[in-house]
Amino acid sequence: MLQLERLVKTFGAVRAVDGVSLSVDAGELRGLIGPNGAGKSTLFSLVAGHLRPEAGSINFEGRRIERLRPAARARLGIAITFQTVHLFRGMTTLENVMVGAHSWTDHEFVEAALRLPRHFREEPKIRERARSAIARTGLEPWADVPAESLPLGRQRALQIARALCGNPKLLLLDEPAAGLRGEERRELSELLARLCEEGFTMLLVEHDIGFVSRVAHRVTVLDMGRIIAEGSPAEVRANEAVIVAYLGSVPADDGAISR
Ligand SMILES: Nc1ncnc2c1ncn2[C@@H]1O[C@H](COP(=O)(O)OP(=O)(O)OP(=O)(O)O)[C@@H](O)[C@H]1O
Ligand SMILES: [Mg+2]
Repeated sequence: MLQLERLVKTFGAVRAVDGVSLSVDAGELRGLIGPNGAGKSTLFSLVAGHLRPEAGSINFEGRRIERLRPAARARLGIAITFQTVHLFRGMTTLENVMVGAHSWTDHEFVEAALRLPRHFREEPKIRERARSAIARTGLEPWADVPAESLPLGRQRALQIARALCGNPKLLLLDEPAAGLRGEERRELSELLARLCEEGFTMLLVEHDIGFVSRVAHRVTVLDMGRIIAEGSPAEVRANEAVIVAYLGSVPADDGAISR
């Protein structure tokens, strides 16, 4: 579904992404991990279209997309969730999810919040799609409450629901578990696993190798802009180069590897 070929992105002297090739199959949940500054966010932005590579190509369903704008990529079926949750205050969970039916650019997205047309909010087809996205993400009991009243874990689920509302084929997630505690992390990993069972394709950028290991089929490890390992979660966790480069220490008892 997604194929990256020898992608390069530099910032001055820093080769943030340095010749990365990777492919994600339809129905796969791929984890992308690496230490601070490894190039994860840069790679994410290259796929989402917020950055352009200096070299290399990105194929999505057989189509070259590396020169397309983010909104054009969204229309092809690539949805993203940002690390920071963008919520429209004074709007319910349902209304916040409905916004995702449209492929806004970041800029338009903020503008839309300020003057979201009434007919759009009341559009039955969009409402129906949002309801279904809310059901898939387990947010039904909170559909009609103000979105800002939700705890962070549910706000993250809301972001995923919003992305689903646009009917994407590929979902890019940037550190969805950041800032979440035990129970919320578990609920999020269950949600991702459920979407996976539905056959959904996802690329999950994460810091927490424990979280990634619970949900990903395969994991790619980046370090200094390059792929240093790729394989099943178990293979990657046992890989010495990964332990040295990414972790600098051995796994803790609970399987969560920290510095
Ligand atoms: N806009 C930018 N301008 C200059 N340098 C940048 C920019 N974005 C990233 N970099 C540099 O590129 C390298 C990769 O950064 P990136 O943010 O992609 O890493 P990361 O793996 O997402 O790290 P983290 O885990 O800290 O989020 C780093 O050395 C970073 O300082
Ligand atoms: Mg990052």
